[in-house]
Amino acid sequence: MAAMSIPTRVELDRERIAALTRREERRLDDRTPGSRALFERARATLVRGVPSAYQERDPWPIYLSHGEGSRVWDVDGNELIDLHNAFGSMVQGHAHPAIVKAVRDRVALGTHFAAPTEDGVIVAEELARRWGLPAWRFVNSGSEATMDAIRIARAHTKRDTIVKIFGSYHGHHDYVMVSIGVPYDRIGDRDDYASLPYGAGIPQSVADLTVPVPFNDADAMERRIERLFEEGRPPACVIMEAAMMNLGVVLPKPGYLEAVRELTRRLGVVLIFDEVKTGLCIAAGGATERFGVTPDLVTLAKTLGGGLPTGAIGGTEEAFQVVETGAVYQVGTYSGNPLAMAAARASLLEVLTPSAYAHLDAVEERLLRGCQDVVERYGLPGYAVGIGAKGCVTFSPEPVVDYESFKAHQDGELSDLAWLYNMNRGVFITPGREEEWTLSVAHSPSDCDAVVAAFEEMASDLTA
Ligand SMILES: Cc1ncc(COP(=O)(O)O)c(C=O)c1O
Repeated sequence: MAAMSIPTRVELDRERIAALTRREERRLDDRTPGSRALFERARATLVRGVPSAYQERDPWPIYLSHGEGSRVWDVDGNELIDLHNAFGSMVQGHAHPAIVKAVRDRVALGTHFAAPTEDGVIVAEELARRWGLPAWRFVNSGSEATMDAIRIARAHTKRDTIVKIFGSYHGHHDYVMVSIGVPYDRIGDRDDYASLPYGAGIPQSVADLTVPVPFNDADAMERRIERLFEEGRPPACVIMEAAMMNLGVVLPKPGYLEAVRELTRRLGVVLIFDEVKTGLCIAAGGATERFGVTPDLVTLAKTLGGGLPTGAIGGTEEAFQVVETGAVYQVGTYSGNPLAMAAARASLLEVLTPSAYAHLDAVEERLLRGCQDVVERYGLPGYAVGIGAKGCVTFSPEPVVDYESFKAHQDGELSDLAWLYNMNRGVFITPGREEEWTLSVAHSPSDCDAVVAAFEEMASDLTA
């Protein structure tokens, strides 16, 4: 785990950033005529040319054809080192032989019955071992996992209000599409953040049930929860990422998670760690293992399925009692889908082994060190930060510890430029100022060096 210090900075010329951005945009346009053609065809039937808004890009998205190991290829034949890794779903690398075999073997035996199979039992046993939590259920995505976990918490406590961290993304259902990605001046007072629907179609009355608090501030969380008790709407749960993964990477301050665990337990509030991004990515047992703090409920998705859509909720027997008794209907036709469970089994038992995590830590360390070295030598405003397979360079003259500091200080133009430099130099990485890289077991030290070289080219052009 690393959050490097902020070095002395040079004053950057904004005109130069704008000129380099224009140049790199033109380069990317010239490299991707096939994507442009596919976009023009796609948008006739696929709204804005993509299956999900998170795949959009102006002027057109980069359409991929295939992937293998640490690489993906776009429809123009450009070979790219993949640090996007499907928003962090492919820590196994692409087309890992063990997962290909498991899926191939399973597909011929029937792909779906909506009846349980042995692989689902094996996966649940392995997750119980890794998380130290005895009770598990499967779903099909991260959004389903957080939605059902919140319902379980509400039923368990017989309360409606929930608390989340301002700026955290927990999926696209109404309970949690609240107070993310808003302009700085709409956040509201730190002790009384606004409950703002994220996009249209979310009733304000539903958003009002979701109360945001700042990350890395257990005192503020405690004060807000105490006030919710006074207001007669005590919360069912706190849902949070143990390390924020949707503002780049924001690590918890020492003692923060322990304090949250203590206060939620004391106040009878269910603690949910949303490990859709951290789970299986930053340690075998996710953030729960890495930080040594065990929540009441945990949500997984992304890496769990090795590229197939699946998710899981884990928890204590006490928290799951409402499902055990049948009070909560925790359901889904595709839950525990045999193909996804076969992939998850192979991933857990054959790919994401202790040596895989040692490898991830080693390549992560190399990439972080390389990026931090560039930041320091060229005096860029920022620092490299990461944990396990996840990391980023946060372009900010000040440390980002929560949403407010992110919004106040992130240099979004540099972040956009870095994305273009990567794409034009063979590095596929998640677009968007809030995203981070995900390494896989297939990445090599020389892949990391190539990424650092692309970053150094940008640093050199910016400061020449
Ligand atoms: C922390 C977190 N929770 C939940 C989700 C939702 O997962 P899904 O897109 O599979 O519904 C995401 C997606 O990025 C996420 O980052």
